[in-house]
Amino acid sequence: MEFFNTHVSPESVRLVSEVLRSTWISEGETVRRFETALEKTLGLSNAVAVNSGTSALHLSLAVAGVGPEDEVIIPAQTFIATGYAVLMQGAVPVFADIKYETGNIDPDSIAEKISEKTKAVIPVHWGGYPCDMKEIGEIAAAHGVTVIEDAAHALGAAYNGRPVGTISEFTAFSFQAIKHLTTGDGGAVCCKRDGDYSELKKRRWFNIDREHDKTGFLGEREYDSGKIGFKYHMNNVAAAIGLGNLTSFEARLRKRRGIDTVYRRMLSSVPGLELLKREDDRESACWLFGVLVEKRDDFINKLRAAGVPVSVVHKRIDKNSIFGGMREDLVQQARLDEKIIHLPLHEGLSEEDVEKVVQTVRSGW
Ligand SMILES: Cc1ncc(COP(=O)(O)O)c(C=O)c1O
Repeated sequence: MEFFNTHVSPESVRLVSEVLRSTWISEGETVRRFETALEKTLGLSNAVAVNSGTSALHLSLAVAGVGPEDEVIIPAQTFIATGYAVLMQGAVPVFADIKYETGNIDPDSIAEKISEKTKAVIPVHWGGYPCDMKEIGEIAAAHGVTVIEDAAHALGAAYNGRPVGTISEFTAFSFQAIKHLTTGDGGAVCCKRDGDYSELKKRRWFNIDREHDKTGFLGEREYDSGKIGFKYHMNNVAAAIGLGNLTSFEARLRKRRGIDTVYRRMLSSVPGLELLKREDDRESACWLFGVLVEKRDDFINKLRAAGVPVSVVHKRIDKNSIFGGMREDLVQQARLDEKIIHLPLHEGLSEEDVEKVVQTVRSGW
Protein backbone atom coordinates (compact mmCIF):
# COMPACT_ATOMS: atom_id res chain seq x y z
CA MET A 1 0.00 0.00 0.00
CA GLU A 2 1.33 3.48 -0.86
CA PHE A 3 0.82 6.62 1.17
CA PHE A 4 0.49 8.83 -1.94
CA ASN A 5 -0.21 7.88 -5.52
CA THR A 6 0.67 9.54 -8.81
CA HIS A 7 -2.03 9.28 -11.44
CA VAL A 8 -1.05 9.37 -15.12
CA SER A 9 -4.00 8.53 -17.34
CA PRO A 10 -3.75 6.80 -20.74
CA GLU A 11 -5.10 10.04 -22.22
CA SER A 12 -2.11 11.92 -20.72
CA VAL A 13 0.26 9.46 -22.38
CA ARG A 14 -1.50 9.95 -25.72
CA LEU A 15 -1.50 13.75 -25.45
CA VAL A 16 2.14 13.93 -24.33
CA SER A 17 3.17 11.79 -27.33
CA GLU A 18 1.21 14.12 -29.58
CA VAL A 19 2.99 17.17 -28.12
CA LEU A 20 6.41 15.50 -28.36
CA ARG A 21 5.81 14.49 -31.97
CA SER A 22 4.79 18.08 -32.78
CA THR A 23 8.11 19.31 -31.21
CA TRP A 24 6.17 22.33 -29.83
CA ILE A 25 7.13 21.39 -26.30
CA SER A 26 7.34 24.88 -24.79
CA GLU A 27 4.32 27.03 -23.97
CA GLY A 28 1.64 26.98 -26.64
CA GLU A 29 -1.83 25.84 -27.58
CA THR A 30 -1.88 22.84 -25.19
CA VAL A 31 -1.38 25.17 -22.22
CA ARG A 32 -4.33 27.24 -23.44
CA ARG A 33 -6.43 24.07 -23.78
CA PHE A 34 -5.42 22.95 -20.28
CA GLU A 35 -6.42 26.31 -18.78
CA THR A 36 -9.82 26.21 -20.49
CA ALA A 37 -10.43 22.58 -19.45
CA LEU A 38 -9.40 23.40 -15.87
CA GLU A 39 -11.89 26.29 -15.77
CA LYS A 40 -14.72 24.17 -17.25
CA THR A 41 -14.12 21.04 -15.15
CA LEU A 42 -13.72 22.87 -11.84
CA GLY A 43 -16.06 25.84 -12.44
CA LEU A 44 -13.19 28.33 -12.27
CA SER A 45 -12.33 31.42 -14.27
CA ASN A 46 -9.18 33.40 -15.09
CA ALA A 47 -6.88 30.39 -14.70
CA VAL A 48 -3.21 31.07 -15.41
CA ALA A 49 -1.06 27.93 -15.67
CA VAL A 50 2.46 28.06 -14.23
CA ASN A 51 5.32 25.64 -13.56
CA SER A 52 4.71 24.99 -9.82
CA GLY A 53 2.53 25.80 -6.86
CA THR A 54 5.41 27.80 -5.41
CA SER A 55 5.53 29.91 -8.59
CA ALA A 56 1.75 30.35 -8.33
CA LEU A 57 2.09 31.73 -4.79
CA HIS A 58 5.07 33.93 -5.60
CA LEU A 59 3.49 35.32 -8.77
CA SER A 60 0.27 36.11 -6.85
CA LEU A 61 2.21 38.00 -4.18
CA ALA A 62 4.12 39.94 -6.85
CA VAL A 63 0.95 40.88 -8.76
CA ALA A 64 -0.78 41.79 -5.47
CA GLY A 65 2.00 44.33 -4.98
CA VAL A 66 3.48 42.76 -1.85
CA GLY A 67 7.02 44.06 -1.41
CA PRO A 68 9.89 44.66 1.02
CA GLU A 69 8.89 45.35 4.65
CA ASP A 70 5.26 44.34 4.02
CA GLU A 71 3.88 41.72 6.37
CA VAL A 72 2.04 38.65 5.14
CA ILE A 73 0.07 36.53 7.61
CA ILE A 74 0.43 32.77 7.12
CA PRO A 75 -0.10 29.64 9.22
CA ALA A 76 2.87 27.53 10.35
CA GLN A 77 0.83 24.44 9.43
CA THR A 78 1.91 24.33 5.79
CA PHE A 79 4.79 23.39 3.51
CA ILE A 80 7.88 25.63 3.55
CA ALA A 81 7.03 26.90 0.04
CA THR A 82 4.33 29.17 1.51
CA GLY A 83 6.89 30.96 3.66
CA TYR A 84 9.57 31.07 0.96
CA ALA A 85 7.18 32.76 -1.46
CA VAL A 86 6.71 35.59 1.05
CA LEU A 87 10.48 35.92 1.55
CA MET A 88 11.03 35.92 -2.21
CA GLN A 89 9.14 39.23 -2.35
CA GLY A 90 11.31 40.61 0.47
CA ALA A 91 8.25 40.58 2.73
CA VAL A 92 7.94 39.35 6.32
CA PRO A 93 5.95 36.21 7.18
CA VAL A 94 3.86 36.68 10.34
CA PHE A 95 2.67 33.38 11.78
CA ALA A 96 -0.94 33.10 12.93
CA ASP A 97 -2.29 30.25 15.02
CA ILE A 98 -4.50 27.49 13.66
CA LYS A 99 -7.63 25.79 14.89
CA TYR A 100 -6.72 22.54 16.61
CA GLU A 101 -9.90 20.94 15.28
CA THR A 102 -9.02 21.39 11.58
CA GLY A 103 -5.36 22.45 11.23
CA ASN A 104 -6.54 25.54 9.35
CA ILE A 105 -5.62 29.15 10.16
CA ASP A 106 -7.77 30.73 12.89
CA PRO A 107 -9.49 33.97 11.78
CA ASP A 108 -9.30 35.30 15.37
CA SER A 109 -5.53 34.91 15.31
CA ILE A 110 -5.38 36.71 11.93
CA ALA A 111 -7.36 39.58 13.48
CA GLU A 112 -4.86 39.73 16.38
CA LYS A 113 -1.81 39.72 14.11
CA ILE A 114 -2.99 42.28 11.57
CA SER A 115 -1.02 45.52 11.65
CA GLU A 116 -0.53 48.64 9.56
CA LYS A 117 2.12 46.70 7.67
CA THR A 118 -0.06 43.73 6.74
CA LYS A 119 -0.45 43.56 2.99
CA ALA A 120 -1.78 40.04 2.48
CA VAL A 121 -2.97 36.91 4.22
CA ILE A 122 -2.43 33.38 2.91
CA PRO A 123 -4.90 30.84 4.28
CA VAL A 124 -3.77 27.28 3.57
CA HIS A 125 -6.55 24.69 3.11
CA TRP A 126 -4.86 21.92 5.06
CA GLY A 127 -5.34 18.54 3.42
CA GLY A 128 -7.91 20.08 1.07
CA TYR A 129 -10.45 21.22 3.71
CA PRO A 130 -11.38 24.89 3.15
CA CYS A 131 -10.51 27.52 5.77
CA ASP A 132 -13.12 29.86 7.30
CA MET A 133 -13.22 32.01 4.17
CA LYS A 134 -16.20 34.17 5.17
CA GLU A 135 -14.53 35.34 8.39
CA ILE A 136 -11.13 35.69 6.72
CA GLY A 137 -12.62 37.67 3.82
CA GLU A 138 -14.39 40.04 6.24
CA ILE A 139 -11.25 40.71 8.30
CA ALA A 140 -9.18 41.23 5.15
CA ALA A 141 -11.75 43.61 3.62
CA ALA A 142 -11.96 45.66 6.82
CA HIS A 143 -8.18 46.20 6.74
CA GLY A 144 -7.65 46.48 2.97
CA VAL A 145 -5.59 43.29 2.95
CA THR A 146 -5.37 40.94 -0.08
CA VAL A 147 -6.36 37.29 0.38
CA ILE A 148 -4.21 34.78 -1.51
CA GLU A 149 -5.44 31.23 -0.90
CA ASP A 150 -2.82 28.50 -0.82
CA ALA A 151 -4.97 25.79 -2.37
CA ALA A 152 -2.07 23.44 -3.12
CA HIS A 153 -4.13 20.67 -1.45
CA ALA A 154 -7.57 21.92 -2.40
CA LEU A 155 -8.34 21.55 -6.10
CA GLY A 156 -11.99 20.46 -6.22
CA ALA A 157 -12.90 21.76 -2.75
CA ALA A 158 -15.95 23.98 -2.25
CA TYR A 159 -17.00 26.57 0.32
CA ASN A 160 -20.65 27.64 0.62
CA GLY A 161 -21.30 26.00 -2.73
CA ARG A 162 -18.51 27.91 -4.45
CA PRO A 163 -15.45 26.19 -5.87
CA VAL A 164 -12.18 27.06 -4.16
CA GLY A 165 -10.52 29.27 -6.76
CA THR A 166 -13.49 31.64 -7.14
CA ILE A 167 -13.61 33.11 -3.63
CA SER A 168 -10.61 35.37 -3.02
CA GLU A 169 -8.58 37.81 -5.13
CA PHE A 170 -5.99 35.09 -5.81
CA THR A 171 -5.90 31.30 -5.40
CA ALA A 172 -2.76 29.24 -5.97
CA PHE A 173 -2.97 25.54 -6.93
CA SER A 174 -0.20 22.92 -7.19
CA PHE A 175 -0.06 20.09 -9.76
CA GLN A 176 3.08 18.45 -8.41
CA ALA A 177 3.46 14.68 -8.83
CA ILE A 178 1.56 13.53 -5.73
CA LYS A 179 -1.29 16.02 -6.00
CA HIS A 180 -4.67 14.68 -7.13
CA LEU A 181 -4.31 16.50 -10.42
CA THR A 182 -0.74 16.32 -11.59
CA THR A 183 1.12 17.78 -14.55
CA GLY A 184 4.45 16.34 -13.32
CA ASP A 185 5.23 19.68 -11.80
CA GLY A 186 2.97 22.64 -12.29
CA GLY A 187 0.47 24.99 -10.77
CA ALA A 188 -2.13 27.63 -11.57
CA VAL A 189 -3.33 30.94 -10.23
CA CYS A 190 -6.99 31.88 -10.43
CA CYS A 191 -7.91 35.49 -9.85
CA LYS A 192 -11.06 37.59 -9.74
CA ARG A 193 -10.05 40.86 -11.40
CA ASP A 194 -9.42 41.07 -15.15
CA GLY A 195 -6.52 43.47 -14.55
CA ASP A 196 -4.80 40.89 -12.35
CA TYR A 197 -5.48 38.21 -14.97
CA SER A 198 -3.58 40.03 -17.72
CA GLU A 199 -0.84 40.97 -15.27
CA LEU A 200 -0.43 37.32 -14.14
CA LYS A 201 -0.17 36.21 -17.77
CA LYS A 202 2.50 38.80 -18.55
CA ARG A 203 4.57 38.37 -15.45
CA ARG A 204 4.66 34.57 -15.61
CA TRP A 205 6.69 35.05 -18.81
CA PHE A 206 9.31 37.79 -18.23
CA ASN A 207 6.63 40.55 -18.12
CA ILE A 208 6.27 40.21 -21.87
CA ASP A 209 2.79 40.06 -23.36
CA ARG A 210 2.85 37.03 -25.67
CA GLU A 211 -0.62 37.81 -26.99
CA HIS A 212 -0.08 41.46 -27.93
CA ASP A 213 3.66 42.28 -28.12
CA LYS A 214 4.42 41.68 -31.80
CA THR A 215 7.68 40.41 -33.24
CA GLY A 216 9.59 43.30 -34.83
CA PHE A 217 11.64 43.60 -38.02
CA LEU A 218 14.80 42.32 -36.28
CA GLY A 219 13.05 39.16 -35.15
CA GLU A 220 12.46 39.78 -31.44
CA ARG A 221 9.20 40.78 -29.78
CA GLU A 222 8.91 44.54 -29.23
CA TYR A 223 8.48 45.21 -25.53
CA ASP A 224 9.47 47.62 -22.81
CA SER A 225 9.41 46.00 -19.39
CA GLY A 226 8.91 48.33 -16.45
CA LYS A 227 8.89 45.67 -13.74
CA ILE A 228 10.34 42.29 -13.01
CA GLY A 229 8.87 39.26 -14.76
CA PHE A 230 9.50 35.56 -14.13
CA LYS A 231 10.03 32.34 -16.07
CA TYR A 232 7.06 30.64 -14.47
CA HIS A 233 4.97 29.58 -17.48
CA MET A 234 3.76 26.00 -17.89
CA ASN A 235 5.01 24.11 -20.94
CA ASN A 236 2.98 22.02 -23.40
CA VAL A 237 4.33 18.68 -22.12
CA ALA A 238 3.15 19.40 -18.58
CA ALA A 239 -0.16 20.77 -19.87
CA ALA A 240 -0.72 17.57 -21.89
CA ILE A 241 -0.31 15.45 -18.72
CA GLY A 242 -2.79 17.70 -16.91
CA LEU A 243 -5.27 17.78 -19.78
CA GLY A 244 -5.33 13.98 -19.90
CA ASN A 245 -5.66 13.66 -16.12
CA LEU A 246 -8.52 16.19 -15.99
CA THR A 247 -10.75 13.76 -17.89
CA SER A 248 -10.91 11.49 -14.83
CA PHE A 249 -10.52 14.12 -12.11
CA GLU A 250 -14.14 14.18 -10.97
CA ALA A 251 -14.42 10.38 -10.80
CA ARG A 252 -11.16 10.14 -8.86
CA LEU A 253 -12.26 12.89 -6.46
CA ARG A 254 -15.52 10.98 -5.87
CA LYS A 255 -13.52 7.88 -4.99
CA ARG A 256 -11.38 9.84 -2.53
CA ARG A 257 -14.52 11.30 -0.94
CA GLY A 258 -15.97 7.80 -0.66
CA ILE A 259 -12.91 6.55 1.22
CA ASP A 260 -12.98 9.66 3.42
CA THR A 261 -16.62 8.86 4.29
CA VAL A 262 -15.78 5.24 5.16
CA TYR A 263 -12.87 6.34 7.39
CA ARG A 264 -15.04 8.92 9.16
CA ARG A 265 -17.83 6.41 9.77
CA MET A 266 -15.60 3.55 10.87
CA LEU A 267 -13.12 5.55 12.97
CA SER A 268 -15.53 7.93 14.73
CA SER A 269 -15.45 6.18 18.09
CA VAL A 270 -11.96 4.74 18.36
CA PRO A 271 -10.54 5.40 21.85
CA GLY A 272 -7.53 7.79 21.71
CA LEU A 273 -8.36 9.05 18.22
CA GLU A 274 -10.14 12.26 17.21
CA LEU A 275 -11.33 12.98 13.69
CA LEU A 276 -10.72 16.46 12.30
CA LYS A 277 -13.84 18.61 12.42
CA ARG A 278 -15.97 18.91 9.27
CA GLU A 279 -18.80 21.39 8.66
CA ASP A 280 -21.72 21.16 6.25
CA ASP A 281 -20.98 24.48 4.53
CA ARG A 282 -17.80 23.17 2.86
CA GLU A 283 -16.51 20.18 0.97
CA SER A 284 -12.97 18.92 1.22
CA ALA A 285 -10.85 18.03 -1.79
CA CYS A 286 -9.78 15.03 0.34
CA TRP A 287 -6.09 15.24 -0.42
CA LEU A 288 -5.16 14.09 3.10
CA PHE A 289 -6.96 12.23 5.88
CA GLY A 290 -5.61 13.59 9.16
CA VAL A 291 -6.43 12.27 12.62
CA LEU A 292 -5.37 13.43 16.09
CA VAL A 293 -4.08 10.53 18.16
CA GLU A 294 -2.84 9.87 21.66
CA LYS A 295 0.52 8.04 21.94
CA ARG A 296 1.37 8.90 18.34
CA ASP A 297 4.69 7.02 18.18
CA ASP A 298 2.94 3.80 19.20
CA PHE A 299 0.25 4.47 16.59
CA ILE A 300 2.87 4.97 13.86
CA ASN A 301 4.78 1.82 14.85
CA LYS A 302 1.63 -0.28 14.95
CA LEU A 303 0.41 0.84 11.52
CA ARG A 304 3.78 0.60 9.82
CA ALA A 305 4.34 -2.89 11.20
CA ALA A 306 0.97 -3.86 9.72
CA GLY A 307 1.98 -2.48 6.30
CA VAL A 308 -0.08 0.72 6.53
CA PRO A 309 2.01 3.79 5.66
CA VAL A 310 1.33 6.96 7.67
CA SER A 311 2.89 10.41 7.65
CA VAL A 312 2.77 13.77 9.35
CA VAL A 313 3.25 15.14 5.76
CA HIS A 314 4.58 18.56 6.83
CA LYS A 315 5.81 19.78 10.19
CA ARG A 316 5.21 23.41 11.24
CA ILE A 317 7.49 25.68 9.23
CA ASP A 318 8.14 28.51 11.69
CA LYS A 319 10.75 26.27 13.42
CA ASN A 320 13.13 26.80 10.48
CA SER A 321 15.88 29.28 11.22
CA ILE A 322 15.14 31.19 8.02
CA PHE A 323 11.84 32.24 9.66
CA GLY A 324 13.43 33.00 13.03
CA GLY A 325 12.59 29.77 14.88
CA MET A 326 9.60 28.32 16.69
CA ARG A 327 6.93 30.82 17.76
CA GLU A 328 5.86 30.29 21.37
CA ASP A 329 2.46 31.93 21.02
CA LEU A 330 0.97 29.37 18.61
CA VAL A 331 -0.84 27.44 21.32
CA GLN A 332 -3.24 25.42 19.18
CA GLN A 333 -0.47 24.68 16.69
CA ALA A 334 1.58 23.16 19.53
CA ARG A 335 -1.37 20.96 20.57
CA LEU A 336 -1.83 19.73 17.00
CA ASP A 337 1.91 19.09 16.55
CA GLU A 338 1.76 16.45 19.29
CA LYS A 339 -1.09 14.49 17.74
CA ILE A 340 -1.52 14.92 14.02
CA ILE A 341 -0.90 12.00 11.67
CA HIS A 342 -2.33 11.14 8.25
CA LEU A 343 -3.68 7.85 6.90
CA PRO A 344 -3.43 6.85 3.22
CA LEU A 345 -6.15 8.52 1.12
CA HIS A 346 -6.11 8.20 -2.64
CA GLU A 347 -7.94 6.64 -5.54
CA GLY A 348 -5.29 3.91 -5.93
CA LEU A 349 -6.44 2.22 -2.69
CA SER A 350 -8.44 -1.00 -3.06
CA GLU A 351 -11.41 -1.90 -0.84
CA GLU A 352 -9.10 -4.38 0.92
CA ASP A 353 -6.57 -1.59 1.58
CA VAL A 354 -9.26 0.62 3.13
CA GLU A 355 -10.53 -2.29 5.21
CA LYS A 356 -6.98 -3.01 6.38
CA VAL A 357 -6.43 0.62 7.44
CA VAL A 358 -9.73 0.64 9.33
CA GLN A 359 -9.21 -2.70 11.07
CA THR A 360 -5.60 -1.92 12.04
CA VAL A 361 -6.61 1.39 13.60
CA ARG A 362 -9.64 -0.10 15.31
CA SER A 363 -7.58 -2.89 16.88
CA GLY A 364 -5.75 -0.26 18.96
CA TRP A 365 -2.07 0.67 19.54
C1 LIG B 1 0.61 23.89 1.27
C2 LIG B 1 1.53 23.90 0.10
N1 LIG B 1 1.80 25.05 -0.53
C3 LIG B 1 2.62 25.12 -1.59
C4 LIG B 1 3.23 23.99 -2.09
C5 LIG B 1 4.17 24.11 -3.24
O1 LIG B 1 3.71 23.47 -4.39
P1 LIG B 1 4.78 22.99 -5.50
O2 LIG B 1 5.50 21.80 -4.97
O3 LIG B 1 3.91 22.66 -6.68
O4 LIG B 1 5.68 24.13 -5.78
C6 LIG B 1 2.97 22.75 -1.49
C7 LIG B 1 3.58 21.52 -2.03
O5 LIG B 1 3.36 20.43 -1.61
C8 LIG B 1 2.12 22.69 -0.36
O6 LIG B 1 1.87 21.55 0.28
